[in-house]
Amino acid sequence: MSEPANDTPARWERAMAAIRSELAKARTPADAVHAAMHLIQSHLPKYEWVGVYVLHGESLELGPYVGAATEHTRIEVGQGVCGTAVAEGRNQVIEDVREVANYLACSASVRSEIVVLIRHEGRIVGQVDADCDAVGAFGAQDEAYLEQVAALLAPLVVRL
Ligand code: SME
Repeated sequence: MSEPANDTPARWERAMAAIRSELAKARTPADAVHAAMHLIQSHLPKYEWVGVYVLHGESLELGPYVGAATEHTRIEVGQGVCGTAVAEGRNQVIEDVREVANYLACSASVRSEIVVLIRHEGRIVGQVDADCDAVGAFGAQDEAYLEQVAALLAPLVVRL
């Protein structure tokens, strides 16, 4: 059975299966989270940068990621797209980062971003953040799948 190479739901389903399989293997929480980020990027190349920020007190600290190094290794709650997600308790889907006043640029080429909160036992413990150089790369489908990823990662992220 074949399917179109650009069949995004099929790509996501394969990514989710691969992530579940990786997480079932014994490894450190950091290794497991990094493997999940790598699998998202390898199955869905528009995830040019994808990583986890861990909430410690009032700061988001950069955890495992794939993509270019970023200067934003620590973001205060309320700052940027990432800090806004925590402050508002809401995921952020940014069609065009140039329209966001307090956007923190990781790279001048990034044009769209998605942030999905990671909750553990009802409390925000971190977030999955992703960037793409194309405008409007992320939408409701990405948010729904990243929520599944966030649920799988939550028990690991609290240990980072
Ligand atoms: N753009 C984010 C900062 C994190 S980088 O994209 C990796 C923000 O505005 O909070």
